[in-house]
Amino acid sequence: MKLPALKGGASKKWNFLLYYAPCPVLMEELAGHLPVKGDHSMKTKITILCENTVGRVIGSGEHGFSAFVETDHDNSLFDTGNGHAIVSNSLALNKDLRTARRVFLSHGHSDHTGGLPEALKLTGKVDVHAHPSIFLDRIAVRKVEGEEVRRFAGLVYKKTYLEFLGANFVLNQEFSEVQKGLFLTGEVPRRTSFEKNDPSLFVEIDGKLVQDTLMDDQSLVLDTGKGLVLLLGCAHSGVINIVHHVVNKTGKQKFKAILGGTHLDFLTPEQLEESIKALKQMEIEKIGVSHCTGMKAASRLHQEFGNRFVYGCVGTVFDF
Ligand SMILES: [Fe+2]
Ligand SMILES: [Fe+2]
Repeated sequence: MKLPALKGGASKKWNFLLYYAPCPVLMEELAGHLPVKGDHSMKTKITILCENTVGRVIGSGEHGFSAFVETDHDNSLFDTGNGHAIVSNSLALNKDLRTARRVFLSHGHSDHTGGLPEALKLTGKVDVHAHPSIFLDRIAVRKVEGEEVRRFAGLVYKKTYLEFLGANFVLNQEFSEVQKGLFLTGEVPRRTSFEKNDPSLFVEIDGKLVQDTLMDDQSLVLDTGKGLVLLLGCAHSGVINIVHHVVNKTGKQKFKAILGGTHLDFLTPEQLEESIKALKQMEIEKIGVSHCTGMKAASRLHQEFGNRFVYGCVGTVFDF
């Protein structure tokens, strides 16, 4: 089915004329979506706490991702970095982890969950929202100078230890509203033909390595009332699959911003180009990538999105 491109409501602020062309899969599913009511406005501020690079004179970089999310209602922590920088960076950036009312884990990889114990020591008893598969044993296998090198890449702490520190795990697989205007995507259907699993990532099951499909990968969605803000961890589900899923579930197509890790650095040039092509057909005001996007993919995105592009490093603040 070929659908005509529809004129979208591009932001006057960015002065761009955008066109949104709904994909056939998306249109099929729209009949079953649960519309998110847009009769409110919610101030939202997102501060990058942990990231591979540092953009201000304060804070430390590490391979990982974490963001502090403040809304009119309360504060949340999204991911926790790899464990070395979350506390010192939150202090340097004046974000009090003791005020986080909940923690979201985008997936089980250690560069997103490694700081959980340190965060819990400050939050005390708190809900930790995640997919049940975050506890799987993850192994990354890469070739270094021709040699196969295996690295444990999963959550390195026992569930009971994390519960002892105050974690109350709230496990979800479905799209869910956690707080007014604050949604978790749950599992994301893999629909696009060009978004593939990272072939270097595995899970160990009964002593055997099996390709990791990262079904636990989920993202945070904030409905600001002026457009959606989509906050990605690593986007292992594929950034375009995630955007389609969010549009299907919310019934909204206008994105104030897409932020976080896109994993585009680890994939093929074809996937990067197809993803950029698809992103350009959507109504997105700002793209603020981080972490596993990598410099090569970030440069391509900058080239394509111009002043709508921002690199989100430690200390970057997004205010909506
Ligand atoms: Fe990551
Ligand atoms: Fe990851």
